[in-house]
Amino acid sequence: MDLIIRLDEADGKTSAVYRALRAAIADGRLPAGERLPATRALATDLGVARGSVAAAYERLTAEGYLAARVGAGTFVVGAPRTTARRRATADPLRPRADWTFEPLATSGAMRKPRYDFRTGIPDAGLFPFDAWRRLVTAELRWRANNPGTYGEPAGHPALREAIARYLGVSRGVRTTADDVVVTNGAQHAFDLIARVLVRPGDVVAVEEPGYPPARRILAALGAKVTGVRVDDEGLVVTELPAAARLVYTTPSHQFPLGRAMSLARRRELLDWARARPAAIVEDDYDSEFRFSARPLEPLHSLDAAGRVLYVGTFSKSMIPAVRTGFVLATPGLREALTAARQLSDGYGQPAVQAALARFLDEGLLARHVRKAGKAYATRHARIVSALDRMPGLDVVPSAAGLHVAALTSADTGAVVSAAARAGLAVEDLSDYSEGSPTRQAGFVFGFGAVDPALLDEGMTLFAALLARHA
Ligand SMILES: Cc1ncc(COP(=O)(O)O)c(C=O)c1O
Repeated sequence: MDLIIRLDEADGKTSAVYRALRAAIADGRLPAGERLPATRALATDLGVARGSVAAAYERLTAEGYLAARVGAGTFVVGAPRTTARRRATADPLRPRADWTFEPLATSGAMRKPRYDFRTGIPDAGLFPFDAWRRLVTAELRWRANNPGTYGEPAGHPALREAIARYLGVSRGVRTTADDVVVTNGAQHAFDLIARVLVRPGDVVAVEEPGYPPARRILAALGAKVTGVRVDDEGLVVTELPAAARLVYTTPSHQFPLGRAMSLARRRELLDWARARPAAIVEDDYDSEFRFSARPLEPLHSLDAAGRVLYVGTFSKSMIPAVRTGFVLATPGLREALTAARQLSDGYGQPAVQAALARFLDEGLLARHVRKAGKAYATRHARIVSALDRMPGLDVVPSAAGLHVAALTSADTGAVVSAAARAGLAVEDLSDYSEGSPTRQAGFVFGFGAVDPALLDEGMTLFAALLARHA
């Protein structure tokens, strides 16, 4: 079979085989109905153990990509909904030659596993839908939002005011409505920033391990993306490429490891950026939920040189479907970012933005964050205490957000596959690296999506699976 598999990957053979097969299914090289070779035959072809191929098949089966038919073999079902692509061979319209991006499966595309430790999903059951619906409905009335005219590209004025006030109280960020450019989520903010700051071929730096969608948008816009290591204090500033024009970082709660960047490292990063013409994108995506002492000040508040673009989102503090985030523009970038937003999608949805302004101003967001934060703190503590009891795991300290990581020397790909077969979804840390030789092995547990009544049972099951693969 014609499969390109990089078997020198540091994250284990199972993951390498799994990823190559998943990619081949997603891009149509392995179409629905195709029969896969027997595990032994493919293992021989690839020069790996049969168990690695079997584990990859089993994980893909659990995730709905493959189906096993007794006596007949293993067949391709297709990619789960959003990643399915038409076979493109006969289609004359193809993307430009250097476009290498496939849609990633979203969390909503997969059937919800029984023990759901996926990352990045807040608990929608905690969200005050009734209050939100009341506000949105009110803003959809005739005359509420000039529905016949076009809105402001930097965002609804009341929302820009509300965000500036909210950040002052909740994060100690000093800003004004003039700085706020409202976006369709953090991802849209990264896109706008890259468009106005980065030229094709420019070097940009991202954390490794890090947040794949940030890396992907930078690469899609032509940047040369370099992964830079993260240690106990955060991004290793001394290893940043000297030519980097932009650095993307998650200092409040490193994604996915979970640590906060130390104050010394924050200062070092700001000094580094000041010494050259470099911008820092500070992604503060989930630190409203904090479980211990007050967090360190955002980089934005320490930045006297105007180098930090602070990006926030309501995807975690509310729900992803609000699809709203923002960037705090520095004075020299305000107009360019506003124009980029106008060029991109005009101005977003005024009714949602106006409703969101009221959600903030009426204290509903603060109340929700307090209530949900307590629930998340309990789940965080329960997961950490379970992980602490498992031999061979090294829990990464974290005090905020919706996920926690643990390092290990076990074969994480095999454990994640076995877990998927048992109805337990947990993330493989290596999925957040692009192949750096310093890659760490580990697991990432999200606790927004998990049913609290099944959390302890899930952790017990995970402990048993880990022990089997230790
Ligand atoms: C590191 C990081 N940044 C940002 C986001 C939120 O992105 P968006 O606002 O585009 O939904 C997430 C969500 O998972 C994330 O993990």
